[in-house]
This record gives sequence, structure tokens and C-alpha cells, in this order.
Amino acid sequence: MSRDGPQIGVVGATGAVGRVTVALLHERGYTNVRAFASSRSAGSRIGTLEVELASPETLGAGDLDVCFFSVGTSASRELVPVAADAGAVCVDKSAAYRLDDGVPLVVPEVNGGRALEHRGIVANPNCCSIPLTMALAPLRDAAGLRSVRVATYQSASGAGAQAIERLRGETPDEHDLRMDWTLDGAELDEESKIRDETRKILELPELPVSATCVRVPVLVGHAEAVWVETEQPLAPADAERILSSAAGLCYERFPTPGKAMGTDEVLVGRVRTDAASGNGLAFFLACDNLRKGAALNAIQIAELVLPIRAAA
Ligand SMILES: NC(=O)c1ccc[n+]([C@@H]2O[C@H](COP(=O)([O-])OP(=O)(O)OC[C@H]3O[C@@H](n4cnc5c(N)ncnc54)[C@H](OP(=O)(O)O)[C@@H]3O)[C@@H](O)[C@H]2O)c1
Repeated sequence: MSRDGPQIGVVGATGAVGRVTVALLHERGYTNVRAFASSRSAGSRIGTLEVELASPETLGAGDLDVCFFSVGTSASRELVPVAADAGAVCVDKSAAYRLDDGVPLVVPEVNGGRALEHRGIVANPNCCSIPLTMALAPLRDAAGLRSVRVATYQSASGAGAQAIERLRGETPDEHDLRMDWTLDGAELDEESKIRDETRKILELPELPVSATCVRVPVLVGHAEAVWVETEQPLAPADAERILSSAAGLCYERFPTPGKAMGTDEVLVGRVRTDAASGNGLAFFLACDNLRKGAALNAIQIAELVLPIRAAA
């Protein structure tokens, strides 16, 4: 690493997550940032950065210390190993490596220590799994978890820059709910990702998790209604106190995507008894999916691993 800080690559820098990654890196004082994307936008500019072509030649040159990928699963499968083999620590935001043995799947506030076990690649979880596990981990520690049910209300930006433009182009009369994920048997792949990732992050491989995912006509910010059954009884007031003081969580009476947008915290509130199950608790959360749900979590992972430091 050079004396003026790490050399950082942002691959997918023209996308919804990549643009936030570049902005957050600059906010945090990192100066040696390079932007990469496909041939569609190579040569364009993001602020002062010229976008370079992401290719095996550019990413395999060995001059990057850390590389953030937000390019989708197939491009990640092709390009992440090239950059990792060339010596960069790669933080990948796609689903390509999340469930691979030997690839840590990390939410720093929950299982940050796992990041240190990486062999060149650390996976960033799904934008719903991150806030969900941040709320579940302190409840697991306090009372044990017997089961989790979650209903998501996910914003258009979770589906990328084109989906943002599509929503912006709609009239209010055209707004509708969407379920724009891939059916995987009876479930959407987003729903099985939430179950599999939650189990891996919390290190509870048998935890029953049931998710229903819906896209709502909101630009930024995902919300989740969560119902948990705990092993031991936990009064709502105690659960609220535990959630309010957990790392990265912030108590908000009525958490909404609008309140979460632009913030780094996961907003949690509406903590109450779930009368439909034994030891049942219900709560609601909201999170900026582009920040803590993606770019910020990835940068925090990299800061754990290197640890990278902005030049003073
Ligand atoms: N949006 C979210 O809230 C969120 C949260 C967590 C994880 N993720 C994950 O992050 C990834 C990107 O999501 P996004 O929402 O930012 O999507 P997006 O807005 O569609 O951006 C995709 C980016 O990937 C680049 N790209 C696509 N194919 C490429 C290739 N073959 N080589 C190099 N660059 C390529 C695009 O560059 P061009 O400009 O050249 O097309 C663009 O910069 C996805 O895997 C997604 O699942 C997204």
C-alpha cells in the first residue's frame, strides 16, 4: 500500500451502488479511487474520475489494494477472481460468492471477525439481509431465536439505476407493487437468499426463516416487517432497549424508507408482542439500501480487513 493511502477500485462505478460507493469513499477521505465499468460507459466521467474499462487486463494488473464490485453475478464471477489473484482484497456485492464455503459473508456489526478469514474475497450480503441480521443478532444473544418471518417493502433502487429511471418516468397512476425477482420453485430467489444468508451470518444453520419480498414504488430505502419467536421470553420493552443500544441500529418510533434515506443507521421501531405465536415479538425496520444495504457495509468490511486508512 502506498504512503498516501490504499489504491481502490470501484467496479460498476456507474451503477446505483457504485455511484454511492465512490461518493462515500470521497466523504471518508480516500483519494486514490479509480472507477471501472463495462464498455458501455468506459470513457465517461463520474465527477472528476474517468471511467475505465473493467477487464482482466485492467483489474489483473496488480496495482489495486482493494476492489469493490457491484456489477451483477455473472460479471463478478468473471472479474472478481482476476482482481483477487492479482492481490486486491475484493468485496463483492453480488450473490456470486455469498454462500461459498471459504468466503466470509459479513455484516461488520454482527460477524466482523469473520472478514479476517478471507482468502481474497469477502461477500457483502443482500440489502435486506444486512439490516435484518443487525436486528436479529442482539435478540439471538439475549433470548435465542426459534423462528423468523419477514415481509419486505423494497425500493426501486434495489433493482439498479434503470429501475430508478423507470419509476421516475411513471405517473402516480402507474405505480404498483412488483415482485421482479426470479421464481425459484415456489419462492422468489430474493426470499431464499434472505433465509440462506441470515442463517450463514448468524451462524444458525437450521434457523427457520420465511420471507415474502415485494418491491414498492419508493426510490430509495427498504423496509421490513419482522416477526420472531425467541427461545426465552423477552418483554417488548426489553427488546426495544436491546435493539436501541445495538451497534448500527437507531430507535425510531415509525421507521420509514424516507427517514432512512441518506443515513448510515438501520432504523428500528414498532417493537411489540406478536400475539400470534409463543414468545413472539414483532418490529419494523428501515434502511438506506444503497448505503448500509450495500456501499457503506462494503467499505466497512474493507476497513476491517486491511485496515485501509485514508491519507491524512
Ligand atoms: N441496488 C442495491 O440496493 C443493491 C444492494 C446490494 C447489492 N446489490 C448488488 O450490486 C450489484 C449492482 O447493483 P446496482 O443496483 O448498482 O446495479 P446497476 O445500477 O444496474 O449498475 C450495474 C453496474 O455494473 C456495471 N456492469 C454491468 N456489467 C458489467 C461488466 N460485464 N463489466 C463491468 N461492469 C459491468 C454497469 O456498468 P455500465 O454503466 O457500463 O453498464 C454498472 O456500473 C448487483 O449484483 C446487485 O445485486 C445492489
